[in-house]
Amino acid sequence: MSAHILAIDQGTTSSRAIIFNDKLETAGLAQEEFEQFFPRSGWVEHDPEEIWSTTLATCRQALENADLSATDIAAIGITNQRETTIVWERETGKPIHRAIVWQDRRTADFCRKLRDSGHEPMVTRKTGLLLDAYFSGTKINWILENIPGARRMANEGRLAFGTVDTFLLWRLTEGRVHATDATNASRTMLYNIHDNCWDTELLQLFDIPDSMLPKVKNCSDDFGMCAPALLGSSIPVRGIAGDQQAALVGQACFQPGMIKSTYGTGCFIVLNTGEQAVSSGNKLLTTIGYRLGDKTTYALEGSIFVAGAAVQWMRDAMGLIETASETGKLAREADINQDVYLVPAFTGLGAPHWDPDARGAIFGITRATGPAELSRAALESVCYQTRDLLEAMAGDWNGMKTTVLRVDGGMVASNYTMQFLADILSAPVDRPSILETTAVGAAYLAGLHESIFPDPSEFAATWKQDKRFEPSLDGEIRERKYSGWKDAVSRTLTRP
Ligand code: G3P
Repeated sequence: MSAHILAIDQGTTSSRAIIFNDKLETAGLAQEEFEQFFPRSGWVEHDPEEIWSTTLATCRQALENADLSATDIAAIGITNQRETTIVWERETGKPIHRAIVWQDRRTADFCRKLRDSGHEPMVTRKTGLLLDAYFSGTKINWILENIPGARRMANEGRLAFGTVDTFLLWRLTEGRVHATDATNASRTMLYNIHDNCWDTELLQLFDIPDSMLPKVKNCSDDFGMCAPALLGSSIPVRGIAGDQQAALVGQACFQPGMIKSTYGTGCFIVLNTGEQAVSSGNKLLTTIGYRLGDKTTYALEGSIFVAGAAVQWMRDAMGLIETASETGKLAREADINQDVYLVPAFTGLGAPHWDPDARGAIFGITRATGPAELSRAALESVCYQTRDLLEAMAGDWNGMKTTVLRVDGGMVASNYTMQFLADILSAPVDRPSILETTAVGAAYLAGLHESIFPDPSEFAATWKQDKRFEPSLDGEIRERKYSGWKDAVSRTLTRP
């Protein structure tokens, strides 16, 4: 039997396990959603035990669905929601608090204080990140400051920190391996992305003992063995990457200048900048794209908080549609003479504005505006925001020539949206034939280590397109529409 790889894709709303064969075809898949906790306004938590139990259950289910056993699996690759922070007791493996999710804003005031005291330039210089509650550093600090006994235990070396990959690896190896990869480390705000090490000055700033930190490895590396009792036999863990970086790999964006854009609840655009860590003048993040061998590849990243969530809002809060797929059909029926703009700043605006206090707005409505025009505005808002980010990227780095955007995620099923995206960008948009790019990335990294998959350039040659969307909108209309969007956004910002 040919070799198979098990990819674990632990995301923000569900845990998934996908088994690929050596041609990267899906042999089995399982998915389970889990509970989201919102204990206070702006707080978002997950139960780490549920993260673990749904992960294990989906791995078992995927094996069953593929009609395979653990002995057929050559390696495991892990990809995960990034930044989400878990702290557990080394002795028992028990978390001392729920996971604090990347979306959680509880440390925003702490970040503001640190910014006001002038620490941000140093943090950005070393980590490539903004001093924001999004990243793990201040979340760890919160746990140490607020959970009784945590600070003392941390000082005694009895606590371990991990992003979700690290926690899963700890559980898979039954506490034998405490490690992460360079992409996940680069999202903690504790990791110096230029020197590739945990940074003492940052650990002091956030008051975190270095004994809590995992060892940082390459994305394709030896991460130990999954304990035999869990899946029926021992399986080596050979790949780890944060989900957006895994999608960059899965989309085979290995050349500087290549870009992928993932449209899920939010949208994350990642541009490969090669061996150069490009610093942003436009509030984009500089991050590690992947680390293979002794080579670190950097990336610029822009995040949009609301993409598919705008469609969910139309369905769940507004009741204007019954299923997400209706929006494309409705959008096609919209009156082309109405310029309606929806700025979906439901939880503030991400890159390139980073305005947490901005709120959503709809502009240009008339008596004739109905669900069709609102549907179109919701879909278009995602495309306009993509252009905002690509313009910011082009402003930051002259290595970004006119380029093709490789897209993935749930929303790319909408031909209407992808065509408008190409139109508003005035650039081609490529939809790959395999849409599971995140899991493919994790599987590729694990299989690369085991020599099941070829090196990046050979793998890139196998990347296949399902459909290319070519821009066809008249240039004058395009620019008029985009400037209408910029005007709408400027009216929602709370700071210039
Ligand atoms: O930075 C957060 C990101 O990694 C979350 O991705 O797909 O779980 O929403 P997702």
